[in-house]
Amino acid sequence: MSNVRVVVVGASTGLGRCLAIGLGQRGASVALLARRESLIADAAREAGPESFAIPCDVTDEASCRSAIGQAAEKLGGIDAVIISAGIGELRRIEELDAATWQRVFATNVVGASLITAAALPHLKESGGMVAFLSSVSASLTAPWPGLASYTVTKAALDKLVEAWRAEHLEVGFTRLIIGECAGGQGEGISQLTASWDMELAGELFPAWTARGLLTDKLIDVDHLVGAVDALVRFGSSASVPTLAITPRRPI
Ligand SMILES: NC(=O)c1ccc[n+]([C@@H]2O[C@H](COP(=O)([O-])OP(=O)(O)OC[C@H]3O[C@@H](n4cnc5c(N)ncnc54)[C@H](OP(=O)(O)O)[C@@H]3O)[C@@H](O)[C@H]2O)c1
Repeated sequence: MSNVRVVVVGASTGLGRCLAIGLGQRGASVALLARRESLIADAAREAGPESFAIPCDVTDEASCRSAIGQAAEKLGGIDAVIISAGIGELRRIEELDAATWQRVFATNVVGASLITAAALPHLKESGGMVAFLSSVSASLTAPWPGLASYTVTKAALDKLVEAWRAEHLEVGFTRLIIGECAGGQGEGISQLTASWDMELAGELFPAWTARGLLTDKLIDVDHLVGAVDALVRFGSSASVPTLAITPRRPI
């Protein structure tokens, strides 16, 4: 995959970090974006000599434009953007206040669109693509009690992918539906549940079990890297509107 120029947004921890390092080690030049600068700097070193870190907060439009502009300049263009940035609040629905709803929408939906808008001219020029990391909880499973803001924003993200495709057929837009994935080693371990109130998780656990939401299987993050490697190489030349990688059987 030499000379493929990839931006990974949300590359400091978890799946985004594994994707950035994995794609870099497979020959891509990678720009790693996230808020925590020392984590993306470390990951960029692991990804290889053609990779580098750029701080970015997707909830800030100026930061999105500046980071994508710097990435395009340093990479000499952009062939693919992988949007892994996301947050997952665990809270009972009646306890979700306006600030929390706004923060989760700003990160999981608006941020994904701002990054895509900033990258659009570069992707049109290269015939490139964007992959958006969505979740089984938004489309393939019954609703998860306690995860309303997460699943609602991921469902909105699914529609966002369609909306981008409707207006820009010249760029590839893929909804990447992910099931449970622990990530990799060290900072590559998913931190999505790190902020959860584990007492509340314990209270909700029986409802998750009763609804058959839990699975004892996990996706191997290397399989995810392999799938995204293929998507990135397709660019806009192959239409892959949705790719689901989940340990579940179809329902
Ligand atoms: N792990 C799973 O089982 C699973 C399943 C389905 C879907 N997903 C999706 O996969 C994606 C990655 O999840 P993960 O498990 O790897 O979680 P994670 O370890 O918490 O990673 C989330 C990433 O998002 C970044 N991020 C959060 N807010 C940001 C902001 N305002 N600006 C820029 N970056 C921001 C974080 O970086 P900073 O905090 O440094 O900014 C971090 O790099 C998420 O979209 C998640 O919904 C994961």
